[in-house]
Amino acid sequence: MEQKEQWSSKIGFILASAGSAIGLGAIWKLPYVTGMSGGGAFILLFVLLSLLIGFPLLLAEFIIGRSTQKEAISAYKQIAPGSNWHWIGYLGVVTCFILLSFYSVIGGWIIQYIVFCLTGQVGGGNTDYEMLFTESVTNPLLSVGAQALFMIITIMVVGKGIQTGIEKASKFMMPALFVLFIVLIIRSLTLENAMEGVSFLFNPDFSKLNSESILFALGQSFFLLSVGVSVMVTYSSYLPKGDSIVQPAFSVVTMNLFISIFAGLAIFPAVFSLGFEPAAGPGLLFIVLPSVFEKMVFGNIFLLIFLVLFLFATLTSAFSLLEIIVASVSRGKGGRNRLSWIIGILVFVVGIPSALSFGVWSEISIFGKSIFDAADYLVSNILMPVGALLISIFVSYRMKKNILKSELIQNAKYSFLFEAWYFLLRYVVPIVIIVVFLDVTDII
Ligand code: PFF
Repeated sequence: MEQKEQWSSKIGFILASAGSAIGLGAIWKLPYVTGMSGGGAFILLFVLLSLLIGFPLLLAEFIIGRSTQKEAISAYKQIAPGSNWHWIGYLGVVTCFILLSFYSVIGGWIIQYIVFCLTGQVGGGNTDYEMLFTESVTNPLLSVGAQALFMIITIMVVGKGIQTGIEKASKFMMPALFVLFIVLIIRSLTLENAMEGVSFLFNPDFSKLNSESILFALGQSFFLLSVGVSVMVTYSSYLPKGDSIVQPAFSVVTMNLFISIFAGLAIFPAVFSLGFEPAAGPGLLFIVLPSVFEKMVFGNIFLLIFLVLFLFATLTSAFSLLEIIVASVSRGKGGRNRLSWIIGILVFVVGIPSALSFGVWSEISIFGKSIFDAADYLVSNILMPVGALLISIFVSYRMKKNILKSELIQNAKYSFLFEAWYFLLRYVVPIVIIVVFLDVTDII
């Protein structure tokens, strides 16, 4: 009899799932777009999308995993035996493999910066962060070495298993992430002229909401909640059968929203207060932000706090990405530690070209994009929306409605909520995904 792994507590499951969701998306993709695309208006749009698209999809994945108690591929096989639906599981595994291969590159950059901080190579008021960033990402040895370190930490945690590895790490890292954010927000908001940053983030400007930002928000709502790749199927399969999934799903969605707003509140007031201009993506977090901290009293400590928080957020996402692959290969038969190493090393090797694409391999282009950008594009704009579409169709058209109902609600009083969820998943989610898919592919 194989031994079934399980979360030791509901809160462990919630924190691990929220850990998977909260990552680069919330901390570096969203805050900038929010500020640039209508502030409060964009936040409102994002809240709506998270509730109408992300939340139903998250529940759908939770139903598949909790009801079958099996990792992604076996779960689809059990529900639809003899069909091709289990390819959704394979699609998820491949997507997570590619995603982790380039996600770990950024994880590596964060580790590099932490080392700079700890060894006193930055700070002191005269660091040229633009040069430092270019040097760190173009140096092949440094970037690949740091990426390896990020993967080793991920492998070691996943290798330990669900309870003693992922759950234990998430139970420490996620609360720490919240506390560190609060410290940063207090610091940022108490700076002079902090309100300028707050209004950049929140002032609702509906005229800036154009089709491009709406489509971007839609596309990102999968990435930000880690849905569409069956990671949440695998995570929820470690949940005991009787446990509710509605409340955990809701907690994950709300925590993700809060952290996205927290990130903006920690970053922009400081950026504006100290006279910098906001920038997008890597520039904001690795060049502007460190320069901002350098101008503060004890700035080095705040930079370190930010980097540690950022590392925790990326690590807890990386755990889930490696976990789905390991679980699908091991299928409950054990050998987790060895498999984690083998798969983790493979992911690392496949990720090396992405790391090098900022330096020695920057000339190589795939459809006009660097290797890193091409991998990101493939995952975020093609594989994840396709996966999300298939999952919404699978659950709402292939699974039986009465089974879904009994999985989702115990109390007949809440029937209307079930009907609302079913309607969203069956009609709204697929249509919206198709619209996003057709348009996003040619605007980015
Ligand atoms: N949600 C993560 C982020 O926003 O950074 C990315 C991610 C992690 C997507 C895990 C998918 C996944 F399975």
